[in-house]
Amino acid sequence: MALPASFLAELKDRIVLSDIIRPTIGNWDRKKSNPGRRDWWSPCPFHQEKTSSFHVDDNKGFYHCFGCGAHGSAIDWYMQRQNMSFIESVKFLADSVGLIVPDQDPAYEKKLQASKKLHDVLDIANAFFVQALKSSGSDEALNYLRHKRGLTSDIIKKFSLGYAPDRRDALLNHLASHNIPPQQMIASGLIIQPDGGGRPYDRFRGRITFPVRDKRGKIITFGGRALAKDAKAKYLNGPESEIFHKSNHLYNIDKAIQSRSKGHMLVCEGYMDVIALAAAGFDYAVAPMGTALTDRQIDLLWKYSPEPVLCFDGDKAGIGAAWRALDRILPKLKAGYSARFIFLPNGLDPDDFIKERGAKAFSQLIQHAYSLSHVLFVRETSDINPDTPERIAGLEKKLHHITQSIPDARLRELFYNDLSQRMQKISGYSPALSARRAQRGSLYQSQRGYESQNLTSHALGSMKKNKGNDSLYRLEAKIIGLYILYGQLMNEQDFDILSDFEPRHSDFDQLKSKIMAKFLSESKKAIEISEENTNISD
Ligand code: UTP
Ligand code: MN
Repeated sequence: MALPASFLAELKDRIVLSDIIRPTIGNWDRKKSNPGRRDWWSPCPFHQEKTSSFHVDDNKGFYHCFGCGAHGSAIDWYMQRQNMSFIESVKFLADSVGLIVPDQDPAYEKKLQASKKLHDVLDIANAFFVQALKSSGSDEALNYLRHKRGLTSDIIKKFSLGYAPDRRDALLNHLASHNIPPQQMIASGLIIQPDGGGRPYDRFRGRITFPVRDKRGKIITFGGRALAKDAKAKYLNGPESEIFHKSNHLYNIDKAIQSRSKGHMLVCEGYMDVIALAAAGFDYAVAPMGTALTDRQIDLLWKYSPEPVLCFDGDKAGIGAAWRALDRILPKLKAGYSARFIFLPNGLDPDDFIKERGAKAFSQLIQHAYSLSHVLFVRETSDINPDTPERIAGLEKKLHHITQSIPDARLRELFYNDLSQRMQKISGYSPALSARRAQRGSLYQSQRGYESQNLTSHALGSMKKNKGNDSLYRLEAKIIGLYILYGQLMNEQDFDILSDFEPRHSDFDQLKSKIMAKFLSESKKAIEISEENTNISD
């Protein structure tokens, strides 16, 4: 029966063995015993004798008879004296010192053995892939990592990157040479048994391999990136198995935990992002494996990092992913735990971004990561301009509704207050706003330009799509385009002119409110950044 070692250690810690044994043996042999050293002697309770050959050592938690050889721990004592089973003895002892025995799972031991075997198979496979990357015949893979992705051999080694040869039986033969039984090969997920029978074959072929490790650093599966451009899937993951459940794990969690003192855990999209970030010094990045963030993954993050920074591409897909993450986190929010958000300029992932602009720029992004409430607010208000009492009331209702998913009452209240304050700032009815408006010109200079780039390409995209030769359409496109391109220079009057402009085409209506919301939220952001530069400590 397997019990966690930590529980058994705690039990042993709380028990005083001599207290358990003394009622049976009467008095200790005073001459031989040494209470100061917690060292006791007496005639042996397991056999008849006049001398004291029975020894109890409280420090070690063991008894031993030099006459008959009886020997054991407190657990053995009850098993030997009272005929208890191991688990009965443990329960009895735990009860007496106020400990609760962890749940018993009779299948646990069996599972443990099976997992150990799977880990062994995965370790053998990893060594094989790593070796294969070094051998000739994988020049293309190594070149790709070194030159296309700019990875040093240190980083390649640190992440145990490897190569799965482009054959159906490379790993299969290797595992067979290690006497791995076929069922274990298949259970590991690395070898596929065709449905209709037939010869099993390698899952990863012609791919760069990424071992995925659990918290303790044990390999639980692999990811594989295709080298060939025409591969059906750019990335392949190992299947669910006894030891790998995609939605419970985060790639690189083992290393990120180790370096968590350096910063808040960083969540990005994929394997290569994690590795590029580590190469640039951000060695606390993790990534889900091709899925949106799950509840279990949020719990896992929060265990080590109360405010992880979630990193998204600033394009439509990235923003969609951010909204999904936001909706996952809200109903789980609890005091002291949250997330921050960063959005990269359109089309760049962390790897591209760092290559293009450097690690320092990325570090600044992290430092100015948006709070969850800011992101929530922007999402809920991006298509509303709260400039009339009716719109303000409508928005208030919406904000109230969205905070209802926060389970903790106090947090819900604080969140709603925060959102209302943000709304006051942009509603046009707040006295504070006029003061801010006066400052806007100068504050606006200090804002970063990332979001405007996204907006620009978004707008240009929608204009390209609609190639209509309608002249009003083109005129409106030009007006909106000017606002987008020269948005950086927009001042109070320009803003007012824009709010009076009523485009006929719905494309522009939406863009117009986006430009306005952006102008407002960025002046607000600039205020926030200049006022509270110390939000994130690293
Ligand atoms: P990306 O395509 O953004 O990955 O997918 P990437 O890391 O930027 O890829 P490259 O190497 O730089 O081109 C992000 C993640 O989504 C999963 C993988 O986990 C990947 O890391 N994914 C992607 C798949 O599972 N299958 C795919 O076909 C593509
Ligand atoms: Mn990429």
